[in-house]
Amino acid sequence: MNQDSVVVLTGGSRGIGLEIAKEISKITKKIAIVGRNKEALANAAEATGAKTFSADVTDHAAMKKIVGEVRALWGPIDALVLNAGIADSAKFLETDDAMFDRIMATNVKAPFQLAREVIPDMLAKKSGRIVFMASNAGLSGYALTSAYCTSKHAVVGLMRSMASEYAKTGITVNAVCPGFVDTDMTSESIARVVEKTGKTFDEAKKSLERISPAQRFVSVQEVAAGAMYLLSDGARGVNGQTIVIDGGQVMK
Ligand code: NAI
Repeated sequence: MNQDSVVVLTGGSRGIGLEIAKEISKITKKIAIVGRNKEALANAAEATGAKTFSADVTDHAAMKKIVGEVRALWGPIDALVLNAGIADSAKFLETDDAMFDRIMATNVKAPFQLAREVIPDMLAKKSGRIVFMASNAGLSGYALTSAYCTSKHAVVGLMRSMASEYAKTGITVNAVCPGFVDTDMTSESIARVVEKTGKTFDEAKKSLERISPAQRFVSVQEVAAGAMYLLSDGARGVNGQTIVIDGGQVMK
């Protein structure tokens, strides 16, 4: 990645995505952030100098239009960070079709469609970087999160398939797999534990921290560092890999 690289990043208005956008913006200003919340996007634009686009990643037509606008503005896309995602939790028997479909549409189908949209640019340039934000829930099964775990395993499978298919083309496709990260998404998970168990917010937070090997949530900076490595020139030979950033829970 260099100052002329054109980057598209989804879910960049807050959390992990915003942190990655801040790091990318130190290298290139040709960065397009897709998110939904206009106010948060305005803050992200101010923090990064990026161009922001308000859209739901599950709206394929809107995403196609954004890709077209980015190309018209800066040329073909060099790097794609597929970070937007949602989580929810429920007992397996209480996981209804609506929850399953919502999570799969956002976490799997949307990145699949966007990657398919952008790959021709990278094939033409004989280089490109795709980074999926998966999860350690894409490598191990966790109770009460069957839909989310399914979606993140699917993302890892998609990443591995694409990496294999494009290995000879100069394109790399990899995934970052964080454990619990200190973001709003995790605060929302804590709130669900509070609601279902009657624990206080602090007790619920500690119970999730205890699941983490280092007994703490990882930071957005730690996760962004992993993504930036995969986007860096030095990672040209890294393809089809999962970079686990969870303090050590997922051991292969
Ligand atoms: P977050 O909830 O703080 O931020 C997610 C971002 O994605 C937000 O900007 C949100 O607006 C955007 N987004 C979600 N659905 C969207 C949609 N349909 N269209 C457009 N934008 C959409 O989440 P966080 O924690 O920053 O997570 C980012 C990614 O990292 C997600 O894919 C998540 O599954 C993954 N992850 C998060 C972990 C955590 O503990 N927070 C752990 C492992 C993976």
